[in-house]
Amino acid sequence: MAPTAKITIDDQLYDLPLHTGSEGTRALDISQLKKATGCITLDEGYANTGSCRSAITYIDGQKGILRYRGYPVEVLAERCEFTETAYLLIYGELPTEEELETFRRNVCVHTLLHENMKKIYAGFPPDAQPMAILSSVVSALAIYSKDTLDPRDPEQRELAIYRMLAKMPTIAAFSYKQSIGQPFIYPENHLTYCQNFLHMMFAVPSERYQMDTDFVEALNLLLILHADHGQNCSTSAVRMVGSSNVNLFSAIASGICALWGEWHGGANEACINMLETILADNRNLRKYIDLAKDKQSGFRLMGFGHRVYKNYDPRAKIIKQVCDKLLKKHGGDPLFDLAQELEEVALTDPYFIERKLYPNVDFYSGIIYRLMKIPKNMFTVMFALGRLPGWIAHWREMQLSPGKAIHRPMDLYIGSTLREFVALVDRKQTSS
Ligand code: CMC
Repeated sequence: MAPTAKITIDDQLYDLPLHTGSEGTRALDISQLKKATGCITLDEGYANTGSCRSAITYIDGQKGILRYRGYPVEVLAERCEFTETAYLLIYGELPTEEELETFRRNVCVHTLLHENMKKIYAGFPPDAQPMAILSSVVSALAIYSKDTLDPRDPEQRELAIYRMLAKMPTIAAFSYKQSIGQPFIYPENHLTYCQNFLHMMFAVPSERYQMDTDFVEALNLLLILHADHGQNCSTSAVRMVGSSNVNLFSAIASGICALWGEWHGGANEACINMLETILADNRNLRKYIDLAKDKQSGFRLMGFGHRVYKNYDPRAKIIKQVCDKLLKKHGGDPLFDLAQELEEVALTDPYFIERKLYPNVDFYSGIIYRLMKIPKNMFTVMFALGRLPGWIAHWREMQLSPGKAIHRPMDLYIGSTLREFVALVDRKQTSS
């Protein structure tokens, strides 16, 4: 007999199907609950809610495990190239040499933007935030890619994926160039994904650009470590928006907007801001630890804590090691020393121990970006660049899912019951 869970509502017993995932996660299937009982479930923040079945990424937050399509992220970060990881996430298998070459070629022929798109950049003020530019220009891709807007058409879907992957680094690098008043540097398709991005970011027409191979490697690693993370806020946004059958570009633009927030991808920039503040404040670590513990302060330790990890984030562990290695070779960074001290103090403080708050992926990543001369306001753009294959993989998985349905949660209505309408002239002010 198939396993079930039993719930009793108003003395009536109901059986709920119980599903088990491939790694042993158990899920109560409540898809028929409302029909059978009239009840809905309530789970603010969705900490207990499985929104879909997915075969992309497995995370065990207690043990600090992260795997893409079954492969440990540590192995992929060490042995793969970013486009290889993107292929794995999107299509489910590591590519053969031939498949990878075809995939690379399919992607790189689309790296250019339509020339008119440069005029969109010209309309932004010089101090425009790159994340706002990124989401706007990605959104505008739907205007310039009218032949790939139907997610139900397999050919259009594939072409949209290639275009999205190809154009994102160009859009991101142009955002930076626009913000510093330098000419846009066009993509060079003989370069790898990461080399091409660094070239578009840092080359200028008047000089020969010498690329540091350490930075190419570091970027490759960082992008892989950010490439997917299950049903996080931005991926859920992509799925939510995509569930209406909108095109890929619009769904990705919504993911970029969701990522920008300080509790999500925006934490990498916020973390460096925090470390700079502490450094300027005589390295008064204790003051900021105390502030983070004080609920009234509204201050949280940026780059610390995670909804899923109740252990050291495996990505943070790798990033910290790479940080250490790179800084030993390229000269130190006082923010790295400070970050390590802050981590030590926090991890011995009962507040952080009891709540199982550890450094997350955003705690040390900004220190590598600083070394690479990537400005702070581009940090979250870097996260978006890395997360793109994950967003695409989830969007594609959802499109191909036989159970696909528009996402439409309910709420437990707690507002006024039926009221009598009052004409405008008769209304009295009730609240300030
Ligand atoms: N500093 C101080 N207290 C914290 C922190 C923090 N960084 N994170 C969580 N807490 C406290 C929180 O106040 C709560 O305390 P209490 O039980 O007394 O009410 C407890 O720890 C549990 O936290 P929560 O808010 O229930 O946890 P959550 O799963 O809702 O939030 C989080 C996760 C990432 C939003 C949160 O830890 C946070 O705000 N961290 C700082 C921002 C950050 O680094 N974000 C990047 C996340 S990783 C990359 C990504 O996904 O983008």
